[in-house]
Amino acid sequence: MNESTRLKMAQPIHALGTGTRESAKQILSRLEPGVTFMMGDDPALPAMPGAPRLLDFFRLRFDETTRQHLTQSAKLALDGGHEEKVVMACLLHDISMGGLMRTDHGYWGAQLIGPYVSEEIAWAVKHHQALRYFADESVGYRYPPEYVRFFGADYQPPEYIRQAHEYARNHRWYMTSRLVTLNDKYAFEAGVQVDLEIFTDIIGRHFREPKEGLGFDGSESAHMWRTMIWPNNFL
Ligand SMILES: [Fe+2]
Ligand SMILES: [Fe+2]
Repeated sequence: MNESTRLKMAQPIHALGTGTRESAKQILSRLEPGVTFMMGDDPALPAMPGAPRLLDFFRLRFDETTRQHLTQSAKLALDGGHEEKVVMACLLHDISMGGLMRTDHGYWGAQLIGPYVSEEIAWAVKHHQALRYFADESVGYRYPPEYVRFFGADYQPPEYIRQAHEYARNHRWYMTSRLVTLNDKYAFEAGVQVDLEIFTDIIGRHFREPKEGLGFDGSESAHMWRTMIWPNNFL
């Protein structure tokens, strides 16, 4: 018997306002014997190990752009002689964009890594999102020229981002998050791959890998890791 066809439905969040979604009704009407919804391992994605570790997500789930951006930012911080906590925060700062969520990515990312890193690293990841919009000449950080291209010259960040910036600016961990933004460069050299292995020791010291694997340790964010393992599960 042939492998049954497994239908995939776009995530509700993706459908809002994009007009790209086949209605639930339309998809449901395609169910028939041998045609079911996607559950479990998706043949369209590389198989994950049973107890996945952080770098497995980098290699097997994250899109190329995010993987390069994260590793190049972390390498920049490493070469700049910054503390390991800064290098680690750089390596994780846009992790949410790898395979989970772009919108409010600093907040999603901080929650995702929260149970596995120091409070300071998660804090730095959370707040880099707001700090990106505000210059700090004391460390030579300017408003990113890319943001002018991305959002237009007259874009103004919303109130909650302004408030988060004000709050972060006066916090004792401000500089950790600020250094993330300083190393958050879009200057990618095409085709230049940073070897993930160079971060193995730093990850070992700053990221608590659960023995059950990410997604299966019952932590507060385990479901977020599972969502990346099985992104097309119907439920
Ligand atoms: Fe970011
Ligand atoms: Fe970034």
